[in-house]
Amino acid sequence: MEEIRRPDDMVRITTPELAQAFIEEQVKLVQEQVGDKKVLLALSGGVDSSVVAALLIKAIGKQLVCVHVNHGLLRKGEPEQVIEVFRNQMNANLVYVDATDRFLDKLANVEDPETKRKIIGGEFIEVFAEEARKLDGIEFLAQGTIWPDILESEKGIKAHHNAGGLPEDMNFELVEPVKILFKDEVRIVGKELGLPDNMVFRQPFPGPGLGVRCPGAITRDRLEAVRESDAILREEFAKNNLEGKVWQYFTVVPDFKSTGIKNGKRSFEWSVIIRAVNTQDAMTATVENIPFELMQHLVERITAEVPGVNRVLYDFTPKPTGTIEFE
Ligand code: XMP
Repeated sequence: MEEIRRPDDMVRITTPELAQAFIEEQVKLVQEQVGDKKVLLALSGGVDSSVVAALLIKAIGKQLVCVHVNHGLLRKGEPEQVIEVFRNQMNANLVYVDATDRFLDKLANVEDPETKRKIIGGEFIEVFAEEARKLDGIEFLAQGTIWPDILESEKGIKAHHNAGGLPEDMNFELVEPVKILFKDEVRIVGKELGLPDNMVFRQPFPGPGLGVRCPGAITRDRLEAVRESDAILREEFAKNNLEGKVWQYFTVVPDFKSTGIKNGKRSFEWSVIIRAVNTQDAMTATVENIPFELMQHLVERITAEVPGVNRVLYDFTPKPTGTIEFE
């Protein structure tokens, strides 16, 4: 297929009407491209793959097969939301794979950050390819590639193929219906397609998930502490109108313990670190000024509700010298 590019004079999609026109046009194009064949999509639940899924469900219904791989490093409630929105509400053909044990077993005792990332990426491709082989008659692979991905790959900053790295015999033709859109346009299109706000306007979340917020070798109990404290932070930010205002916020649980007191007894437990930053392009970042009362409330909730935690710290470090994530 000829390379499709964003026209220089394309009007930025900022209104529901413009989004609807884009959706109608893409639905037609996808129907023409795919015909009566089947399309496979790795549906992470992130903005881009979710919007592609919703668009393709509208265009080709059950000819789309979505595969949601739960690598065990997702945020609390994420796999459940993917199943609820796509299988229950949109009636999608969704294959859900709980590969938690597979990933965590491979990651056991692995301390090096880059090795962890490689294992997570490699295992993801393997699980996805295994599922693809179980399906008959797939000819297309849909991807949530967006315009900045194309520009960055042209500049040599990063490779843009999200599912790149599939085995060579899996030779699918690509379907990339949002590839000429900027992120803000993808969100508006997603909203028009009926996706929930907390899916469309969500903060960035790294592919290796909570794995990079559980520094060093990942253990199940420390990972649970990351997941539970992250859920509390997100709930409190939503309640206090910080969701959508702060660019990225999360918790980290490093592999060290300190002495404290719980229920009148000595405790020796982990610390939760809260990070909340603002940025334009993630190259530099400043730290959010969280109200002190909210901070105190977060400390109370996290130490009371998250097993194995007796302290809560706030990371005041901008980028540079820190990065946004911890590893
Ligand atoms: P850093 O930590 O480099 O993060 O300041 C900048 C932005 O990139 C995200 N990030 C990742 N995203 N895979 C991803 O998909 C990764 O391995 C990864 N590492 C960092 C990070 O969440 C932040 O938004």
